[in-house]
Amino acid sequence: MAKVLITSNSKRDLWNILSIALLVAAGAWAQTVTQKPDEVVYKLAQNASMDCQFIHTPEQQVAKNPILYWHKITSLTQMTRLWPDPESPYKDRVDVLDSDRNSPNRSVLLKNVQWEDSTGKYECKLSYRAAKQDKRTKGSGVKLLIHDSMFFGLENETQLMCAVNVSRDDGFVLSLLQDGSKVFQKTIDPLHPSMSLPVTLSVILPLEKGKNYECQIHLGSTMIMSQPFQQPLETPGTLEKVLPEPAFLFVAILLVPITVLLALLTALLVLRR
Ligand SMILES: *[C@@H]1O[C@H](CO)[C@@H](O)[C@H](O)[C@H]1NC(C)=O
Ligand SMILES: *[C@@H]1O[C@H](CO)[C@@H](O)[C@H](O)[C@H]1NC(C)=O
Ligand SMILES: *[C@@H]1O[C@H](CO)[C@@H](O)[C@H](O)[C@H]1NC(C)=O
Ligand SMILES: *[C@@H]1O[C@H](CO)[C@@H](O)[C@H](O)[C@H]1NC(C)=O
Repeated sequence: MAKVLITSNSKRDLWNILSIALLVAAGAWAQTVTQKPDEVVYKLAQNASMDCQFIHTPEQQVAKNPILYWHKITSLTQMTRLWPDPESPYKDRVDVLDSDRNSPNRSVLLKNVQWEDSTGKYECKLSYRAAKQDKRTKGSGVKLLIHDSMFFGLENETQLMCAVNVSRDDGFVLSLLQDGSKVFQKTIDPLHPSMSLPVTLSVILPLEKGKNYECQIHLGSTMIMSQPFQQPLETPGTLEKVLPEPAFLFVAILLVPITVLLALLTALLVLRR
C-alpha cells in the first residue's frame, strides 16, 4: 500500500486560507504557487499524485485560464516537460486532476511510476495575466520517492533476511525488531554511491527460536511498510506428543454422559421388573 505524506484536505484548505491571509497582511500582492508536501512516496507501478495549488485573491485580478506547466528538473541544465506536451515521453502518463483551468487545484497524476521517475524533482509553473501584466510563478517542486515490496523470510535454516528496493534517498531506513526492540537499522550508504537504480536495503540476522521478528521501512519518522515474520511450526515429532492429550480428554468428556445414560437405562430396566 502506498503511504502518501499528505495532510487532510481540510488542513490544507486552512493552510491555503492562512497563506492568503498572510500574503494580504504582509501587503505582498503576489500570486503564489504552492507544492505541498515537498516529498511524496509511492510503491513501484502505482499512480502518483503530485499536488499544486495556485493561490491569489480576487483583488489581484488574475485573468481567466492561466496556463499550466509541469516540468521534471533533473539537473541545473536538464529539464523535461511533463505537461502539456504532445511530444513528451510522459504524454500518456500524466493527467491533470481538475479539468477546470480556473481551479486553484493544478495537481497531476503520474501513472505507473518507475525507478527513473525518482530522479530530480517536479515543478509546477503557471503563466497568467494579473492586473494587466504577464506573469509567471512556480512552486518549489516535489520529490518523488519510490519503494518496492518487502522480502522478509528465511535465507537458510539459521538466517533471517529482510530486503527491500528503494529509490536513492537518505531518508529511507530499514529496521529489524526482535521481540519489539530494534536490533538492526540500515540506511543508504552515502560512502558507496552507486549509480544503480534502485538501491537494495537488506539485513541478515541469526534466527532464534521462540522470538518474534518484524521488519519495517521508514521515511524519516513515517512508517511506510511493516511485516512480521512467523516462526515455522514446531517439528511434527513434538506435535504428535502433544495431540493425544486433548483427544484423550475429549473421549473422557464424551464418556461421562454415556456412563450416566447407561446407568439410567439400567435403573429403568431394574424398575420395570
Ligand atoms: C492508474 O490509473 C489508471 C488510469 O487512471 C488506472 O487504469 C490504473 O488502474 C491505475 N493504477 C493503479 C495501480 O492504481
Ligand atoms: C485536487 O483535485 C483532485 C481531483 O479532484 C483531488 O483528488 C485532490 O484531492 C485535490 N487536491 C486538493 C489539495 O484539493
Ligand atoms: C546461512 O546464510 C548465511 C548468510 O548468507 C551464511 O553465512 C551461513 O553460513 C548460512 N548457513 C547455512 C547453515 O547454510
Ligand atoms: C531488487 O532489485 C534487483 C534488481 O533490480 C532484484 O534482482 C532483486 O530481486 C530486488 N530485491 C527485492 C527484495 O525486491
